[in-house]
Amino acid sequence: MKALVLSGGKGTRLRPFSHSLAKQLVPIAGAPVLVHVLQNIRDIGVREVGIIVGDNGEEIMELLGDGSAMGLDIAYLHQEAPLGLAHCVAVAADFLGDDDFVMYLGDNVLPDGIEAAARDFAEHRPDGLVLVTKVADPSQYGIAELGADGSVGALVEKPARPRSDLAIIGVYFLTAAVHDAVRAIRPSRRGELEITDALQHMVDEGRPVTVREYTGYWADVGSVDALLACNRTMLERLTSEVRGRIDAASSVHGPVVVEAGAEIARSHLEGPLIVGSGTVVSDSWIGPGTVVGHGCAVRDAELEESLLLDGANVHGVRGLSGSVIGRGAEVTAPCDGRGTRLIVGDHSRVEVAA
Ligand code: DAU
Repeated sequence: MKALVLSGGKGTRLRPFSHSLAKQLVPIAGAPVLVHVLQNIRDIGVREVGIIVGDNGEEIMELLGDGSAMGLDIAYLHQEAPLGLAHCVAVAADFLGDDDFVMYLGDNVLPDGIEAAARDFAEHRPDGLVLVTKVADPSQYGIAELGADGSVGALVEKPARPRSDLAIIGVYFLTAAVHDAVRAIRPSRRGELEITDALQHMVDEGRPVTVREYTGYWADVGSVDALLACNRTMLERLTSEVRGRIDAASSVHGPVVVEAGAEIARSHLEGPLIVGSGTVVSDSWIGPGTVVGHGCAVRDAELEESLLLDGANVHGVRGLSGSVIGRGAEVTAPCDGRGTRLIVGDHSRVEVAA
């Protein structure tokens, strides 16, 4: 069994971060999304992983290398343009050969793992096993319509009027039968070769395709709000570990990770939260649901439920909540008594209190 991880694509819903950082590399609870993905793959005993990359390939290769640090053997497969999830299978055809594989979308986070689904697939070996879960807004996803006996009726990509609330999760267990299906389908109305259509083709051909309801936590972190919600949920599982320095004038409550080389002075940390290595926090209050990345500076500030990416700098600002601050970005109080001053990059979003 191999794994195919999809990490190309445009990531437009995660702008402005995805302008400079592959969306699959955005950190959640202290580790890039792709690292969470690869941990789940390793946990089901798969070693050989192909990662589909687009223009963002170099940064991904720099982070993961040949995979040996994670006990994996990673091959990188370049996709010219994001032409669809089934197109990724076609790009990976030589790498996959006749092997069974798990296809895992690089922006899907499943902290409860995929072991039970992998066992189910190994035991019954259908040509496709699709994970689904009930959602409130099915039109945002591929959905599965089931017959009364639980068999797959139809798999439909983002229907305007969904006839089921079962969203397809981005983890698919497949046999080599999918390659014929991928060759048989045509691009959808949005111009992509959809994996949903390939699966539907298999169903229509009478091939065994089953769905399995996933009961753990699942997030597609393709948007900023989803990213923050997922970060918060994963932080709820944090266990405290303090390797950095916390001075005697500081206090800590709740689960808190302070990485080696971080320094906390005259501040209060209210977990769950993470402060990354090389970060300095002084005269500040950091609240739950926050991850401060590596090499950041937080001085005389109050923030909660926020993500500060590496090298971010927050100074003299209170009441920050639900914020994502990009790499090396600065958020400070006005320096010479002027009113609010913004230097905001393309596709950014700022909400200023009146
Ligand atoms: O998250 C679950 C949903 O994922 C499913 O319910 C849908 O059926 C499925 O089509 C997919 O929908 P999305 O619109 O969320 O897919 P997205 O374009 O965000 O791509 C998912 C991942 O695959 C992402 O990491 C980028 C990567 N990708 C995407 C395309 C279209 C590629 O590597 N190449 C591509 O051509």
